[in-house]
Amino acid sequence: MPKILNPADASAEGLNESAPDSTAPAGMVFYHASEGKPLATPWQVALIRSQLLARAALPEGMILDCACGSGIQLAAHASVLQRPAIGVELDPRRAQASAMNLHTIASQRNELDAERMLTTRVVVGDGRDGAGILSALKEGLGLEELPKIALLHLDPARPRNSRTHGLDEMEPRLDEVFAGWAPYLKEGRTGPALLLDLSPRLTHEQRLEVEAFVDLSWPGLLRTWVWTSRGRGRVDRLALWLGSAAEEGVARRFVRVPPTLGTEPTLVAGGRRLVNGSGHPVQVNRPPRRGERISILDAALVESGLAEDWLKRVTKSEKIGWSVVEGRRPQIHHDHPLRLEDPADRLLVQATGRVVALARMALSVTHVDRLVEVLLEHDIRSLTVRATLPPEVQPKVQGAIDRQLARRSGRRDAFLVQQPGDEMLLICIAE
Ligand SMILES: C[S@@+](CC[C@H](N)C(=O)[O-])C[C@H]1O[C@@H](n2cnc3c(N)ncnc32)[C@H](O)[C@@H]1O
Repeated sequence: MPKILNPADASAEGLNESAPDSTAPAGMVFYHASEGKPLATPWQVALIRSQLLARAALPEGMILDCACGSGIQLAAHASVLQRPAIGVELDPRRAQASAMNLHTIASQRNELDAERMLTTRVVVGDGRDGAGILSALKEGLGLEELPKIALLHLDPARPRNSRTHGLDEMEPRLDEVFAGWAPYLKEGRTGPALLLDLSPRLTHEQRLEVEAFVDLSWPGLLRTWVWTSRGRGRVDRLALWLGSAAEEGVARRFVRVPPTLGTEPTLVAGGRRLVNGSGHPVQVNRPPRRGERISILDAALVESGLAEDWLKRVTKSEKIGWSVVEGRRPQIHHDHPLRLEDPADRLLVQATGRVVALARMALSVTHVDRLVEVLLEHDIRSLTVRATLPPEVQPKVQGAIDRQLARRSGRRDAFLVQQPGDEMLLICIAE
């Protein structure tokens, strides 16, 4: 019989890994165990995700996280959705940390006595064993029937040194969890609801493998892939929302977590289903022109396959030329300024501007004098190098430009890019 913990009367005794979460309101401290902190979902990310989930019509029942770790995501779901929660965790100390964190969130919201807490529990056990966990809970809670599961959330552990991020390395494995819980998931209008929190490093083929696993248990179940980024062009989370958790007509969603807590995230939705391709733009080689616009977009947005959808929102359906489609600085060429009045859209652009000069010269410290002459002709007071240079050269070149421009009196801010395989420097006035 697995051990069952009641978060309402959880204790922190024996837990010695606690840490404030830098994305949570000041003073909020979470417990972790067995070095669980790096595995835990940051509070802001967890909260945004639960708020988006609140838009879905979930079936009746409880929220289940069958590998709940420190329980941060589970606590966010339970408090935002106002549902009872079940966490399952193999590591007894982490299970205790989960119970404590569920307690902290409920107490912070004055909800320790709320109805949802009466049946909220953390089970120390194997998250693949749906039958065993549910019958233990039925007995432990004195219920007449097995608890109903409204949503299955799964954020499996991955080996820290994994190179392949293969599906067979996930602990617990998706197929085993599906097999163990499929009979117990309640159905909503579009089937059962599942949220799989996966490695952002899964390849396109591995993502399709995940879909194939899903289809084995629930053929054709509705699906929305969700890319989440906390900035710097990195995809921090890749998740698959399924069935009643998925959004009809939305194959992909990109979520840019805002820099400050409490601000709305930037959302882009649409895209093609993954079976129809990765959705990545196609690179074209066309000579750069003075007067055209160049923008460097958020690399995580491009990785999600939703850049073209977003561009429809911020351009007047103009023709976009992709000169760089991979790496940290995806680059487009276009004729009119992007419409970035909404600060949420501005977050998805690293730089945007109009080309004022094309300079054929090598980008090195020895050529900075010549480059600065060109910059002064265009009344430029600052120039950010956004071309790829060796890491040891980049700060030297940028420093030399900054020092020379500081002694002059230009008025405009600019940036510099290059096209792949071409030495030509494209100098753009920032817009
Ligand atoms: C990535 S962590 C989950 C973190 C969680 N989402 C949070 O917000 O804190 C995955 C957890 O799965 C647990 N785990 C691995 N295999 C399991 C199994 N078969 N049953 C239950 N838990 C398991 C690991 O101990 C680990 O704590």
